[in-house]
Amino acid sequence: MTAKPILLNAFDMLTPVHQSPGLWRHPDSRAEEFQKLEYWTGLARTLDAGGFASLFLADIVGVYDVYGGNGDAAARHGVQFPLLDPLVAVPAMAAATERLGFGVTASVTYEHPYLLARTLTTLDHFTNGRVAWNIVTSYQDSAARNILGRDEQIPHAERYDRADEYMDVMYDLFEGSFADGAVVADRDANVFVDPDRVRDIGHDGRWFRVPGQALAAPGPQRTPFLFQAGASKRGQQFAVDHAEAIFFSGGTPGLVRRWVDGVRDGLEEAGRPRDAVKIFSLATVIVAETDEEAEARLAEYRSFVDTEAALTLFSGWTGVDFAGADPGDAVEDIVTEASRSALASFTTLASGRTWTVRELAEFVSIGGRGPVIVGSPSSVADELERWIREADVDGFNVCAAVRPADLERFAELVSPELRRRGLLDDAGDPVTLRERIGGRGPHLADDHAGSRHRIR
Ligand SMILES: Cc1cc2nc3c(=O)[nH]c(=O)nc-3n(C[C@H](O)[C@H](O)[C@H](O)COP(=O)(O)O)c2cc1C
Repeated sequence: MTAKPILLNAFDMLTPVHQSPGLWRHPDSRAEEFQKLEYWTGLARTLDAGGFASLFLADIVGVYDVYGGNGDAAARHGVQFPLLDPLVAVPAMAAATERLGFGVTASVTYEHPYLLARTLTTLDHFTNGRVAWNIVTSYQDSAARNILGRDEQIPHAERYDRADEYMDVMYDLFEGSFADGAVVADRDANVFVDPDRVRDIGHDGRWFRVPGQALAAPGPQRTPFLFQAGASKRGQQFAVDHAEAIFFSGGTPGLVRRWVDGVRDGLEEAGRPRDAVKIFSLATVIVAETDEEAEARLAEYRSFVDTEAALTLFSGWTGVDFAGADPGDAVEDIVTEASRSALASFTTLASGRTWTVRELAEFVSIGGRGPVIVGSPSSVADELERWIREADVDGFNVCAAVRPADLERFAELVSPELRRRGLLDDAGDPVTLRERIGGRGPHLADDHAGSRHRIR
């Protein structure tokens, strides 16, 4: 293969509306089936055959109740509600596939590290090393109220400081508690685990006290492959310190490029190679045999969009209530404790453009904060190649507008075109997700912060 392969994740969520509010009503949508395990195992098989490196599952742990001050609009429009736990679905999907990885979102603000480390290690074993963890600090007051018993969420900067300490605990549990070969299972010697090769981690910090040893012996990757999504300045610093792959949502290659340059500069300053982290960008793809058919499909999709639902989603991301806003009002930047990068995409980072609330709602209605790429397989492949060049990304989190039809159509129509161009690297024996995406061994690279926690 001469050209650099394009990495593909499918981006989805265990809920009726993911990134394209209103389209659950399209006749091809199977939104009602999201609570059926067969829906997810079927999708996983399709993605595996389509050469996707992983299925990346977003997750939140609160309802979208910012719009109008309550959860009614989110409920009515199925806006990421109801919502099932993505981690629970992974073993069944892994059993149905050979090579597909699973990127699961779990929040460091709401999960306890000791228990989450065990859950992720369990998934690493049960997937043969095909699991990634999308580290998020979350953005919803509703989650803080129900899980932490607080009125408001932990402030943005403090969430990230706490997340740094959280990662120390996780690295200790994944890398520093069980030495290699600790599990001996020696019947003759009557020893299952050699206690001399298991260590208490002794963590005593500002937010966490975890004195003991890990419960689970490490899986094939030890630390699961690490994804991060969070694009504010502080979020990018966290990514430089911890991520092996990063996910951005931005409408134009230019906008995403600014984040990408920031991360690659940060890596260089930290003494790591500029390409030490793989970068994925959101893309909603609508493909058909010809450009005309694809455009007709998009036009049909537009008749299902739901702008109130889109503003419910956007209010939830940003913590700003758009319910009373006049559609002609300009979107303004404010300091928010929710997602700073989501709001900034339409204000300070909008390259001089002023977005109205109506334009924002229409944009977000199909494909959330990312681009909608429409056309024949060859046009879609050309556009993906343009994004790779102009945004300097390594791949895409491909999202369906009508679910799961658009992902199935991608696997059927675009994947063969990418293979024909030598851009899809999906041959060979199954490997861990770290090897598939990062290209190096199954474990954290030696220049990654987590490797300092290894038992010597
Ligand atoms: C592209 C993208 C995807 C994200 N996905 C999730 C998610 O699935 N669940 C979640 O709780 N937070 C998610 N986040 C939010 C981050 O966890 C972060 O807490 C929040 O955006 C605030 O950080 P920021 O201002 O650095 O972006 C996402 C953020 C971005 C930019």
